[in-house]
Amino acid sequence: MPKLCCKIGPSILNADLSQLYIESQRLIDSGADYLHLDVMDGIFVPNLTFGHPVVKCLRNKLPNAMLETHMMVQNPIQWIAPMADAQVNQYTFHTEPCDDVPLVCRKIKEAVMTVEPGFGGQKFMKDMMPKVKWLRNNYPNLDIEVDGGVGPNTIDYCAKAGANMIVSGTAIIQAENPPQVIKLLRESVNKEINLNASV
Ligand code: DX5
Ligand code: ZN
Repeated sequence: MPKLCCKIGPSILNADLSQLYIESQRLIDSGADYLHLDVMDGIFVPNLTFGHPVVKCLRNKLPNAMLETHMMVQNPIQWIAPMADAQVNQYTFHTEPCDDVPLVCRKIKEAVMTVEPGFGGQKFMKDMMPKVKWLRNNYPNLDIEVDGGVGPNTIDYCAKAGANMIVSGTAIIQAENPPQVIKLLRESVNKEINLNASV
């Protein structure tokens, strides 16, 4: 059975977007495994960020980076082709609740929002952990991502519940030492992965 691996994907939503490329390169240099790009249309969520032209520019600057777009948009179908042109590697859409088993089976990854979608810097919703635990118990090999309010003070809840893909924005972007925060998040997740692999 392939062993899960920890992947840290900083969200750039609360970064200085006027320096998107520089901020993105800084995160990659700090040890990020992928970049989490929150695409918001101002309709699905009360915030407007950026679309595929910006993502395509970033892709041209970062040809080897793993880019994940989190599509908080009213009509995702109309976004797929342009975003594919921007060569993103993964998409996260808002799916039906995770007890819609067939949907989860077909997926290579499930993302659990741990804040209300729309803004960075919000309070972590610990009551989402049973959802993560349910997924991990039923899908031991699935990549399970948590997104929102995750940082040094909340990572252990996520790791213990079974998350292995960690989206963290403010906690990394605004840290004095982003590499240290990424390392701490990774250590917490790997500790739980190794513990579970040994039972
Ligand atoms: C919220 C976004 C999250 C958010 C994470 O709608 O989907 O990705 O930017 O940022 P923090 O870690 O600051 O909550
Ligand atoms: Zn997100």
